[in-house]
Amino acid sequence: MPEDSMDKPSIVTCTAPVNIAVIKYWGKRDEDLILPINSSLSVTLHQDQLKTTTTVAISRSFQEDRLWLNGKEEDITHQRLQSCLREIRRLARKRRNDGDARSEDSVGLSHKVHICSVNNFPTAAGLASSAAGFACLVYTLAQAFGVEGELSGIARQGSGSACRSMYGGFVQWIMGSKEDGNDSVAQQVEPESHWPELRILVLVVSSERKPIGSTSGMQTSVQTSLLLQHRAEAVVPRRMVDMIEAVRRKDFPAFAELTMKDSNQFHATCLDTHPPIFYLNSVSQQIIHLVHRYNKYCGETRVAYSFDAGPNAVIFTLQQFVPEFVQLVQHFFPPDRNGEDFIKGLPVKGAALSMELKQNIGLEPVPKGINYIISTKAGPGPRVVDDPSQHLLSAEGLPKKTTV
Ligand code: DP6
Repeated sequence: MPEDSMDKPSIVTCTAPVNIAVIKYWGKRDEDLILPINSSLSVTLHQDQLKTTTTVAISRSFQEDRLWLNGKEEDITHQRLQSCLREIRRLARKRRNDGDARSEDSVGLSHKVHICSVNNFPTAAGLASSAAGFACLVYTLAQAFGVEGELSGIARQGSGSACRSMYGGFVQWIMGSKEDGNDSVAQQVEPESHWPELRILVLVVSSERKPIGSTSGMQTSVQTSLLLQHRAEAVVPRRMVDMIEAVRRKDFPAFAELTMKDSNQFHATCLDTHPPIFYLNSVSQQIIHLVHRYNKYCGETRVAYSFDAGPNAVIFTLQQFVPEFVQLVQHFFPPDRNGEDFIKGLPVKGAALSMELKQNIGLEPVPKGINYIISTKAGPGPRVVDDPSQHLLSAEGLPKKTTV
């Protein structure tokens, strides 16, 4: 190989999805290894609507490891980032030492990396981007260093919820019991093709305040909330079994009830934290009322909500109920611009609302309470992007103009 081409970086680009927990992870038993106090279960969202894209370049001519996030160079000494890098390099070294033929021609382990990552959704939307971000980082680094196999345990060390973004469809994160955390990994329960009628609507709620981050929030909860302890020990184990069963049977009412109860218990543990943490705002509460009143009016459970560490609602429903429910949301949270651009993602058909339904819901409309809706469904896990024109780093290993 000529000298100059040996100096050219080896470049790989991958994408990874966002996931939404329906049985929540809240609380660690080990802060460094990121080991949770309970198992959790999530739905992976489709990457057509929400994804992180990451390019990793490796070259012996790079002087140092560097990182660009959403167009801005960031400090790479961040402890969790370093854990992921260290673990991937350790696996690559192990593979080489084990004499794996495929790793022989792999890039030098001592070479530095350049990492560039972007989200296709605004960070300001308040959607947890760390799960997709760390899943994408670990998946792309693994590709670049020629590492295969179980990687969710490494993604977990970037951000707990990131381990679940390593798979598509319905995913459980088994808490594990080993001290070294080796059995605290994610597993696919069912692929995304299992429940094609399931739809997910992310209601992006307007809010000025930046809520307390998950990491510090759950730390205070572990230290002060007895309810959280009870939840982890006595509630979640049973709920995990029931939720897996509901997903396997595609039993929407059972899935919906467990999802709402678990979201509410998570927020109850936040209120039980001292000092208390409030993630839901008045619009979130209105959405909760809307869902329960709609289900009651219909005489069956058609819609469920789930809220993470912020006021945005994630709605789960079935395809056939989407048009009417979206119309209801638009009626009770009228957008400012004639509804234009209010619905992003999968197209939603129009629907007529009866006067009787609107009166039965009986809520006072909150103009501009919801910024927009992202309409999506369950989707696949991380993917390699084959088209080199999609790389975020140039042949020199620097961010392309369009990504800066
Ligand atoms: C409410 O995974 O963001 O979204 O492990 O400290 O990075 P760290 O926390 P993070 O917590 C997510 C909390 C949650 C529930 C969930 O996704 O299960």
